[in-house]
Amino acid sequence: MKYPVTVYGDPLLRKKAKEITKDYPNLKEVIENMWETMYYSDGVGLAAPQVGLSIRLFVVDASSGADEEPELENFKKVFINPEILHKDGEEWVMNEGCLSLPEIREDVERPDEVTIRYFDENFVEHEETFKGFAGRVIQHEYDHLDGVLFIDYLSPLRKRLLKGKLANIAKGKVQPHYRIKIPVK
Ligand code: CO
Repeated sequence: MKYPVTVYGDPLLRKKAKEITKDYPNLKEVIENMWETMYYSDGVGLAAPQVGLSIRLFVVDASSGADEEPELENFKKVFINPEILHKDGEEWVMNEGCLSLPEIREDVERPDEVTIRYFDENFVEHEETFKGFAGRVIQHEYDHLDGVLFIDYLSPLRKRLLKGKLANIAKGKVQPHYRIKIPVK
């Protein structure tokens, strides 16, 4: 089942999400539905708050980066209760998009590496360092669990230029090919 995607203007996207236990109701199904929603929407990552669930869970499929980084072939991971331990490396710019910000793409600067502790879908704990494209997507998705969106990193000028677009998203005046949940005003 595909979930509707929550978009800019929905207060849930600004909330700090809560940790879950392995007894979280229908966890397996929730994860399956998130994959389905993400692939249908052509996303490379999706965080639970983007499908209306304020829990610390996100999924990432970074395999589309395998052209440039061959080790990303089959990179498909579930992150539950993740905790970023540190970010390292040079900052670099990538043009980012977000399913919750349809029709907006902006250059965002982030550190190259992220070291993260998390549980996978079987609640096995891992501690790993990700860099390049995977590190980028993971930082973006992790931010969603803390109520942060990539537009928060833009300069006041860039943000001002996006004001109209953002207002339209919040009013539901966008029509991406996937279903969205129009924020209640
Ligand atoms: Co996003």
